[in-house]
Amino acid sequence: TYEKFWLGASMVLIVGFILTITYGSVGLGIAMVDDSEPTINPENVGDHPDFGDPGVEQVGENEYVVHVVAVQFAYFPGEIEVPADSTVTFKLTSEDVIHSFSVVGTNANTMIIPGEIASVTVEADEPGEYGIVCSEYCGSGHHDMEGKLTVV
Ligand code: CUA
Repeated sequence: TYEKFWLGASMVLIVGFILTITYGSVGLGIAMVDDSEPTINPENVGDHPDFGDPGVEQVGENEYVVHVVAVQFAYFPGEIEVPADSTVTFKLTSEDVIHSFSVVGTNANTMIIPGEIASVTVEADEPGEYGIVCSEYCGSGHHDMEGKLTVV
């Protein structure tokens, strides 16, 4: 009967939704923005203890913090490498205008506002190369502003 058909169809939909949710939560890319971060003087980024020498820092067995400075039209460092199966927290600030930091194919996406330190965390499970792009218009070179996250 039609009733059984629709019951079956709705079950398929429900299972489909569950699979979609599960699929979306594995692999690289649960992003969280920490609003409790302190402020930073954009003119003194170079003198900052962490942002003056940005890069990857191991903070736990499988935990890394990566300080990244955004500036028209690049990220420093532009190429970031972390081991697989690690939790990676990016700490981000800008020296000039508003940029963003989006790891392609993941939920990791945050604005980078001068004077503020943005924070976004990804689960770097799967080895591979992940593009990083600026999705906030920041000037004439905006479209060329990119980086790379390599999970090895
Ligand atoms: Cu930086 Cu767009």
